Amino acid sequence: MSFTSPEVFGDSFLGAEATTTPSDAKRSKPTSPRHAAPESEESTIVKSSKNQPRPLLFKPMTLRDVTVRNRAWLPPMDQYSVFKQDGIPTDWHYQHYVSRAVGGFGLVLTEATAVSPEGRISPNDVGLWNDAQQNTWKWIADGIAATGAVPGIQLNHSGRKGSTGSFAVGFNGASVPQDQGGWPTLAPSSVPFGSYAIPTELSHEEIHRIIADFRSSAARAVAAGFKVIEIHAAHGYLISQFLDPLSNLRTDEYGGDLNSRLRFLVEVSDAIREVLPEGLPLFVRISATDWAQGGWDLDQTVSAAQVSKRHGVDLIDVSTGGIVPYVTVPVAPNYQVPFAAEVRAQAGIPTTAVGLIDKPKQAERILHKGWADAIEIGRAALREPSWPLRAAHKLGLNRHEAPYPQQYLRGAYRDNA
Ligand SMILES: Cc1cc2nc3c(=O)[nH]c(=O)nc-3n(C[C@H](O)[C@H](O)[C@H](O)COP(=O)(O)O)c2cc1C
Repeated sequence: MSFTSPEVFGDSFLGAEATTTPSDAKRSKPTSPRHAAPESEESTIVKSSKNQPRPLLFKPMTLRDVTVRNRAWLPPMDQYSVFKQDGIPTDWHYQHYVSRAVGGFGLVLTEATAVSPEGRISPNDVGLWNDAQQNTWKWIADGIAATGAVPGIQLNHSGRKGSTGSFAVGFNGASVPQDQGGWPTLAPSSVPFGSYAIPTELSHEEIHRIIADFRSSAARAVAAGFKVIEIHAAHGYLISQFLDPLSNLRTDEYGGDLNSRLRFLVEVSDAIREVLPEGLPLFVRISATDWAQGGWDLDQTVSAAQVSKRHGVDLIDVSTGGIVPYVTVPVAPNYQVPFAAEVRAQAGIPTTAVGLIDKPKQAERILHKGWADAIEIGRAALREPSWPLRAAHKLGLNRHEAPYPQQYLRGAYRDNA
C-alpha cells in the first residue's frame, strides 16, 4: 500500500482499491445490521412530473431551514493544494468545488479545514482562522451556491495526526520535520499515531483554546456563506483522539469513561451552536469503529450520536477507521453502510452513507432500504465531477428535472423512451 496523503493514510480502506473492481458493487450487500433500519418516510417513492417514480437520490432533503436539492453529496476530500502554506484556499479549490456543484451535487462539503495553524493535517491544508481565508472561502461558497448546490464546510483539528506530509512537501505517511515546515503536535495523551512524532498532552487551557478556535472558525464560516457546518470527529484526528480509549489515556474529566471521552466533542458542538444560526444544520462526521479490539465501536458511536442530537447536531456522517494504523479494514462496496443504518435506526438521527458507493442503482437501493438519508460520492466524483447528472439519467429522471444548469441542457443525456 502506498500512502499518497495523510488523510488517505487515515482512511486505510484505500489500500484495498487495487483489489476491488467496480463490478463488485453489483454483488455487494450490506452485512446484516443487528437491527434492520426501518423503511422511512424518506423511502416512499414520489412521482416525477411524468408520473414515473422519482428516484429517492433526487428527492430534496430539508434540515432546519436548509433544503438540499438532492441526496447525492460530495464528501470532504483534502486537496493538499495550499502551496504557499498560508491556509488560504486557491484557484484550484474554487475549480474543484464549483465544478462539482455545476455537476449536480446537492451538498458540496469542503475538505478538512483547520481551525488553527497547528490544526492542519499537512502544511498544504486549508484553514479558517483569519480574514484572508474567510474572504477566499466566501468566493468559493458563493460560487457553489450560485449553481443551486448548498455549500458546507468541514472544520477540523488534526491533533497528533498534524504536521504530516503531502504530495506537495513529500514526507508521505510521515511527520514533517519542524525545520522543514512542520510543527509540534498536541493530543489528549502523549501517544503517537504509528511512527508519527510524539505529541504533547494538552493542558486544560489548550483544550479550551481549541474549543474557542472551533467557535471562531464556525462564525467565520457563517460569515463566508456556508450553510452547513460539519465537525470532523472521524479518522483519528483530534476529536476522535479524545473519543477513542486507545488514544485517550487521560484521567481528568476529558478521559476515562464514555461520558468523559465525549466531553470534548460535546463542548465543541455547543461552542459551534452558540454562533451558528438556529436555521443552519450542524453535522458530525464520526468513525463508527476503529476496527481494533478494545477501541471505539458501534455502541459508543450510537451513544455519541444520541448525545450529539441533544446538543444541536442534525446529522451523523458515518465513516470508519483512521484512529490506529495497525488494523485490517474489510473493504468492499457498501462496507460502511450497516454502520450508517444502525446509527440511523438506534439513535433516530439522519445519516449519510459513504465508502465505495459509486453506482447510481447502488446509491438508490441504500436510500430505498432506509439505511441512510443521503449518499456521499467521494473518489468517483474525483474522476467524474458530474456523477449526479449521469446518475439522474441512469435512474430514469427526466432531464428537465435533473440538476442541469440551463446552459448545459442541450448536452443532457437523452431521456429514455
Ligand atoms: C483524496 C482524499 C481526501 C480525503 N480527505 C478527507 C477529508 O478531508 N475529510 C474527511 O472526513 N474525509 C476525507 N476523505 C475520505 C472521503 O471523504 C470518503 O469518506 C472516502 O473517500 C470514502 O468514500 P469513497 O469510497 O466514495 O471515496 C478523503 C478521501 C480522499 C480520497
